[in-house]
Amino acid sequence: MNGSELYDDPNFLHGYRELRRTGLGINDALEIPALAAALPPVEGARVVDLGCGEGGTAVRLAEAGAAEVLAVDASEQMLAAAVPHPRVRYERADLAVLDLPERSADLVVSSMALHYVEDFDALVGRVARWLAASGAFVFTMEHPIMTAPLVAADCVVDDYADEGRRERTWFVDGVVKYHRTIGTIVAVLRRHGFRLDLIDEPLPTPEQVAAHPHLAIHRRRPPVLLVAATLGETRSRQQFSDAE
Ligand SMILES: C[S@@+](CC[C@H](N)C(=O)[O-])C[C@H]1O[C@@H](n2cnc3c(N)ncnc32)[C@H](O)[C@@H]1O
Repeated sequence: MNGSELYDDPNFLHGYRELRRTGLGINDALEIPALAAALPPVEGARVVDLGCGEGGTAVRLAEAGAAEVLAVDASEQMLAAAVPHPRVRYERADLAVLDLPERSADLVVSSMALHYVEDFDALVGRVARWLAASGAFVFTMEHPIMTAPLVAADCVVDDYADEGRRERTWFVDGVVKYHRTIGTIVAVLRRHGFRLDLIDEPLPTPEQVAAHPHLAIHRRRPPVLLVAATLGETRSRQQFSDAE
């Protein structure tokens, strides 16, 4: 089941919503604060949220002063439960084909959705077209250390170089994700004209683990990769070596 179908599967959705409701996932403790800290000021910005789910990120950005947020998701069920906000417009679309007018956004954000996208290169190319000059693209995704093994394993990095489709069991069997190396993610962004501002791997502190022991596993390997990039001149490899 690929990402655009998964979140409409009743068995999956039940497990996922329960995880989010109990706060036992990584979202509340790690991912949401890290993403918030990496975002540029959004006052007056035109924002696009890719894989918005029930709209948590989109609403937070609207409340932080974004002029408008276009929040896109493939799942009918997630959008049906999405939190309404006067400056958030929800749209059902598959990120594989979504297209928007050129230079129509100042910030494109995505929270834990891009590991479901098969053609990352094509999506980044479209994001670069949608963004105005100096626009920002900030996203989190499942960490490549997690997506690497062909056979899911909690703490074993394997098959790292073999990019592409992975199948996992997560509440249901046959959840399809796509593995890419960090090197590929960075190279694709640079090829499409992005300058890298930040790479982060949100991890629990020992104090968080003491208070919430279920987070301990995430000190053994990083669950999330966060990338913040800005559209603009990217120096070529030659320019980098000239500067050294
Ligand atoms: C882990 S959830 C994250 C939801 C939300 N961003 C959040 O942080 O609460 C991943 C979301 O990506 C959406 N998604 C996955 N593949 C997609 C695709 N190809 N096109 C559009 N949305 C997709 C799912 O429907 C789901 O809502």
